[in-house]
Amino acid sequence: MSKKTIGIFIGSLRRDSFNRKIANFVISLAPSDFEFKIIELGDLPVYNQDYDDDGTPPPAYNKFREQVKEVDGFLFVTPEYNRSVPAVLKNALDVGSRPYGQSVWDGKPGGIISVSPGHLAAFGANHHLRQSMVFLNVLMLQQPEAYIGDVADILDEKGNVVPERSIKFLQQYITAFVKWVNLISEKK
Ligand SMILES: Cc1cc2nc3c(=O)[nH]c(=O)nc-3n(C[C@H](O)[C@H](O)[C@H](O)COP(=O)(O)O)c2cc1C
Repeated sequence: MSKKTIGIFIGSLRRDSFNRKIANFVISLAPSDFEFKIIELGDLPVYNQDYDDDGTPPPAYNKFREQVKEVDGFLFVTPEYNRSVPAVLKNALDVGSRPYGQSVWDGKPGGIISVSPGHLAAFGANHHLRQSMVFLNVLMLQQPEAYIGDVADILDEKGNVVPERSIKFLQQYITAFVKWVNLISEKK
């Protein structure tokens, strides 16, 4: 049986991003029948509907849409910017959602891990993303929810998650997530 593929979308372009470190750690937790791969967002021009209306989307839009179409599910790993989703991630959602009627997000399973150096663990971004997912018809895992607060305290200098309970939590989250992806895939 071929592996299922999960696209990971990171809501930060920062060189030393905590979110990228968590995403990389999560990739190491993928079970053998899954492949987790990061789909990069940094090259996407800010969405302008004229590109699609004129039939001249930037090559980066075409590439991104193809990459999203190819995966079986989505895992968003994101910080919070001003109590919402960072623009780079919202832009990617918008690019993938158009041209109208051709959204590449529709009907696939998804999950979110929100990550912050603050105590509130990017709760606002987590739930703002969920709001867009309702409209985009991405079927989001409900439980467990994954809020990683005080993230600087759980990473070592190489980006590994250190506390046993944090590792266990992320393992449990990924176990639930892949189960959810399999369940939704069977129903399609
Ligand atoms: C424009 C901006 C807005 C931010 N707003 C929030 C916020 O609302 N809540 C929060 O927890 N952190 C906020 N932060 C701090 C980020 O959580 C912090 O920069 C974090 O390291 C970003 O994730 P990264 O390490 O993956 O880049 C903000 C940072 C920036 C640059």
